[in-house]
Amino acid sequence: MRVAGLDRSPAMLKRATRKGQYTGLAIGDVVRAPFADARFDLAISVLAACHVADINAFYGEAPRLVRPEGYVVLVDYHPFILVRGIPTHFKTEAGAQLAIENWVHFLEDHVAAARTAGLALLEMRERIVRPRLDTRQAGNERYRERARELRHGLAAPIDRIVVTRNRLPRSIDHVRPVYYVETKWIHAASGHGGDLHQDERVDSMNELKTQRPRFRGYAPEEDNPVLETLLAHRSVRAYKDAPVPEKAVDLILEAAIRAPTSSNLNSYAIVVIDDRDLLEKMYAVCGKQPFVAKCGVLLVFCSDISRHVHVCAKRGYPYRGDQINTLFVTHGDAILACQNAAVAAESMGFGTCMLGNVRNDPPAVSDLLALPRYVFASVGLAIGVADEDMGLKPRMPRRVMVSRNRYSSEHMEDGLAEYDETMRLTGCYLGRREPLNDVDPDFEDHFTDETYGWIEHTARRLGGKNQFERRNFGAFLDSKGFSRR
Ligand SMILES: Cc1cc2nc3c(=O)[nH]c(=O)nc-3n(C[C@H](O)[C@H](O)[C@H](O)COP(=O)(O)O)c2cc1C
Repeated sequence: MRVAGLDRSPAMLKRATRKGQYTGLAIGDVVRAPFADARFDLAISVLAACHVADINAFYGEAPRLVRPEGYVVLVDYHPFILVRGIPTHFKTEAGAQLAIENWVHFLEDHVAAARTAGLALLEMRERIVRPRLDTRQAGNERYRERARELRHGLAAPIDRIVVTRNRLPRSIDHVRPVYYVETKWIHAASGHGGDLHQDERVDSMNELKTQRPRFRGYAPEEDNPVLETLLAHRSVRAYKDAPVPEKAVDLILEAAIRAPTSSNLNSYAIVVIDDRDLLEKMYAVCGKQPFVAKCGVLLVFCSDISRHVHVCAKRGYPYRGDQINTLFVTHGDAILACQNAAVAAESMGFGTCMLGNVRNDPPAVSDLLALPRYVFASVGLAIGVADEDMGLKPRMPRRVMVSRNRYSSEHMEDGLAEYDETMRLTGCYLGRREPLNDVDPDFEDHFTDETYGWIEHTARRLGGKNQFERRNFGAFLDSKGFSRR
């Protein structure tokens, strides 16, 4: 078998020579390959298309190189990873990290360009980097680290590199699981291609709903992107000036509404806020956290019993849900829908942050959103294109939070001490101490950066006067028709 290799850089060809796999190597551009027509049975492009500005030129050249029954195979970074600003990069001999210019071609661009070039699709795979797979491969230590993080819920994003191109983001996010896309093509004229024609295309969500087997039991070897999304959760409080596309909002809402709902009462409402003026106003009454005004969209999940009161009145029955349990039911419903929405949004690559601060000034929020009687804002969810990655926030050790068959506080002291230290080491309290607003003004804060951790922070927070700020919430609920008896 004869194998020819092509690259633009002599340094890469030198490395290829050392592999000893090639019968011939050529310097050249992949869009103008120095090879004769129909010379090959198979043309493989590996991590090259993402550096080519004109994807049409790329596909224009690839089929020229293979004989009529030959194949074109493409392995490239998945556009999702490139869109997140994660460039291809390498280390120089001096150890500096260099990034190479990338062009993001969506899968749609690939398909359109390949079809135009007369290719038909045989296979397409979106490869996911699995911790299990990664850790077996040499040189993938960073993924090993990632796997460890995922298992133990540890902090710190992995793999930060310095990006030299100013057109790329300053730093990369954590490495996302969807990584490569592989496609295999054949000349359409050969008649072998199972091309994805427009009219045969299956709506991807429907396909997911109807074709994926449900309740198939524990399958440890199987890909589980849902778990990956859940285990990678971190709140995002800085967003780029970019919208959340309507289609994405639509899917997020669909996922929110699929959440379980107590007794199937559907006792919540969602207000979608994408009006920039309104977002500014929400920012002003929801704790003045800048991300509220800057996010792509803010969903406000409201506890809502108005429909229940309505149907009782409609049928002439008394409404007897006026009790505190109803508050738990409806607020619980709203929170569950919000969490579903958050997971959906994060699964699509958006950043999210919940916003309990919608309860800071409930009458103001109620006025802004025109919430009627029997409806109040339980929680908000900011969604947008992330402009920060603070990494995973450590959680309390499991032994403190989880016990088996009966409640246990056996590990409270040692577990809290451990968590105190873990949180302190993240540095998140540096310059962000809770004020001692309730104590004698002469009181000396004897905590140092080495001793101020989660315990002191939380105790100050819960013992501080700011706790009074929501004291009027009960009276507000009364005014909205939610009983507290
Ligand atoms: C019900 C709820 C309300 C929240 N409200 C706010 C909020 O108003 N502002 C904020 O910055 N974060 C808010 N958060 C985010 C939490 O602060 C965050 O989840 C927590 O610190 C853990 O960090 P992580 O989400 O990054 O793991 C809220 C979270 C929940 C569950």
